[in-house]
This record gives sequence, C-alpha cells and structure tokens, in this order.
Amino acid sequence: MERTFIAIKPDGVQRSLVGEIIRRFEAKGFQLVGLKLVQVTRELAEKHYAEHRERSFFAGLVEFITSGPVVAMVWEGKGVIAASRKAIGKTNPLDADLGTIRGDFGVDLGRNIIHGSDAPDTAEREIALWFAPHEIADWKPSTTSWLYE
Ligand code: RTP
Ligand code: MG
Repeated sequence: MERTFIAIKPDGVQRSLVGEIIRRFEAKGFQLVGLKLVQVTRELAEKHYAEHRERSFFAGLVEFITSGPVVAMVWEGKGVIAASRKAIGKTNPLDADLGTIRGDFGVDLGRNIIHGSDAPDTAEREIALWFAPHEIADWKPSTTSWLYE
C-alpha cells in the first residue's frame, strides 16, 4: 500500500490546526502509521528541502521550518501521495482552491501550513529521512473492508 510523508509546519501547529488536519486525513479514509512532534534541526531542514538549496527563499524556508515544533506523519492508503497533494492545495494559499487545507486556512506563500511529498520517490526519501523503521506501525484498521472493495 502507498505511503506519504506529511508535515504540519510551525504555523499550522501554532495556529492549532493539528486536530483539523488529522481529522481530514482520517475522514478521507487514510491510515496513520507514523506520528511525532519534532523540533526540526537545521541539518534535517536542509536535507528535507535540499532540492531548493540554490533558491533565493531557501534560507528563509529553513529558518521558518526550524522556528517551532512540526508534526511529522506518515499516512498510508490507495493513491495517498496524489490525494494528499490535492487535499493540501496549491503552494500559494491564495491560489489554492477552497476546500483544500491551504485554501481554507492560509494566505501567505511562506506560511502555507503543511507539507506533503510530491511523488513516490520523494515520499520514500522523506519517510526515511524523518522516521526510523521502528517508528512506523504496521497495523490493520478494522474498517478496511468498508473502505476497500
Ligand atoms: P512543500 O514542499 O513545503 O510541501 O511545498 P510545495 O511542494 O507546494 O512547494 P515547493 O515548490 O516544494 O516549495 C517549498 C516551500 O518553499 C516555499 N516557497 N517560497 N518565495 C518563493 O518563491 C517560494 N516558493 C516556494 C513555500 O513555503 C513552499 O511550501
Ligand atoms: Mg515541495
């Protein structure tokens, strides 16, 4: 089954959106298999956003992501990578559709609340970067046969 890495950024935690965001993923039918509150180090932030290392906003992005606790999660389910990106919405919250997390709760590009892996290879890389194998739970929800044919 597919897995993705989701992080509620410091602004989402500070704005008390943790419960609302987890509720949306649970309600959709995705399964939580990893969850922790992390004070992100500079080293982890730089590795996580390594693809943006040469961009002008990189320093500010690292500064922001290390500025307060982040809720790091791994979610599992059919098509969870693409579906999460859809539920999160466009990078700039003002461009994000209403009904998406960024569209409903954000206004600024640099305060867009949540991160989600953008492809299978990034999901695999990010899960391995943020979680040790023993921090991921293999469990079978009792609702599986009511969610999947
Ligand atoms: P994320 O990685 O955080 O989930 O966001 P994303 O895929 O939607 O967007 P990405 O292109 O990966 O950018 C990473 C984060 O950098 C900030 N950003 N600032 N000033 C700018 O032009 C700019 N562009 C991107 C955003 O906070 C974005 O989430
Ligand atoms: Mg990205």
